[in-house]
Amino acid sequence: MTSGARPQVVLGVSGGIAAYKACELLRRLTESGHDVTVVPTAAALEFVGAATWAALSGKPVATDVWTGVHEVPHVRIGQQADLVVVAPATADLLAKAAHGLADDLLTNTLLTARCPVVMAPAMHTEMWEHAATAANVATLRSRGVLVVEPAEGRLTGADTGKGRLPDPDEIFELCRDVLERASTGSTSTGVLDLAGRHVVVSAGGTREKLDPVRFLGNRSSGRQGYALARAAAARGAEVTLVAANVTLPEPAGVKVVRVESTAELRDAVLTAAAGADAVVMAAAPADFRPVHRSDTKIKKADDGSAPVISLEQNPDILKEISGNRPAPGTIVVGFAAETGDASGSVLDLARAKLARKGCDLLVVNDVSGGAVFGADDNEAVILAADGSAVDVPRGSKGALAHVIWDQVAARLPSA
Ligand code: CTP
Repeated sequence: MTSGARPQVVLGVSGGIAAYKACELLRRLTESGHDVTVVPTAAALEFVGAATWAALSGKPVATDVWTGVHEVPHVRIGQQADLVVVAPATADLLAKAAHGLADDLLTNTLLTARCPVVMAPAMHTEMWEHAATAANVATLRSRGVLVVEPAEGRLTGADTGKGRLPDPDEIFELCRDVLERASTGSTSTGVLDLAGRHVVVSAGGTREKLDPVRFLGNRSSGRQGYALARAAAARGAEVTLVAANVTLPEPAGVKVVRVESTAELRDAVLTAAAGADAVVMAAAPADFRPVHRSDTKIKKADDGSAPVISLEQNPDILKEISGNRPAPGTIVVGFAAETGDASGSVLDLARAKLARKGCDLLVVNDVSGGAVFGADDNEAVILAADGSAVDVPRGSKGALAHVIWDQVAARLPSA
């Protein structure tokens, strides 16, 4: 892409009911300054007509290779693209792409594109789980295509299961991330440097129940953890996100496991971490829980006295997983919000915490000037057990997430 030019995106749409959601993805892409050429398959036009795609993209739309032949569109569209995203990608489209078939404009475009390719499959669970589809997805991934895991939930009819197209806003975020990394050439190991890796991220703040309506909790929003999950998915990783009481939209292609308490968070993280390449503890687990939990609502006493709540410590998940690695080369990352005090500076205290916890990397936020909970941006120092320190200037939580993954990727044993 020449600097200053609008990024050229090809939006391939294949014939599934989720084609209507691609209209929203198209809108997000055009409104954020991308030049989008929509290439629907003939089957896609049964769901959403050419007029809709042409009106939303501001360009004519073709589905076969016989329209505008003098411009050789079957070669040109793919060659000029900075990104091709296929949403929804049907089982049939995945099969054709995996086998190099080229019987329409979209499949030709996929053969001529040399830019990053993102495919967001959507289909019924049985089709997604079929051995043929699984083999086609594996083939495409081995060739460097970013095939997004479908979401779970309501499918075409009343049935539910895995196979839903992720939220178009989240597919858009993923595309933007891939484009940005491809255009800055920020990595020597390629845009999908975490492909074939399984990473676990925890996010949010846990709640410890006092009674059926009350809990002890904290204000963690989960944004940094979600940004980490989103960034890892955009780098090709298989991502499990253990989310404690987070209300943010689920990142595309990420498996989300919902928990409430620190005990549940621990169980979910340890289960997901089996064999994982990296575990990033961005959650704020409650350090203490009530010794007794009342099954009925605690009532006010008539004499004006208040209940005394005894607390006990929760397990330290980061310390536990650092001391007992789920696999020999698993990289473990912790977070620390610190203020300096009489015993030392922020970095002195953070170094001591890194040693105490036993993790490989500690992402340190200096919160002397106020907490970062819920903020859109963040700045940090990433301390490593090998003694190095990386300063990350104030920027988006997404930008910090990528620096954290850079540090993780540099330490992963070769696959
Ligand atoms: N953490 C954890 N399990 C807990 C508490 C925290 O895994 N029960 C993780 C957090 O996810 C984060 C890091 O530990 O990655 C934060 O350290 P934390 O122990 O919360 O910091 P402090 O409470 O400040 O630690 P200490 O009181 O030991 O200084």
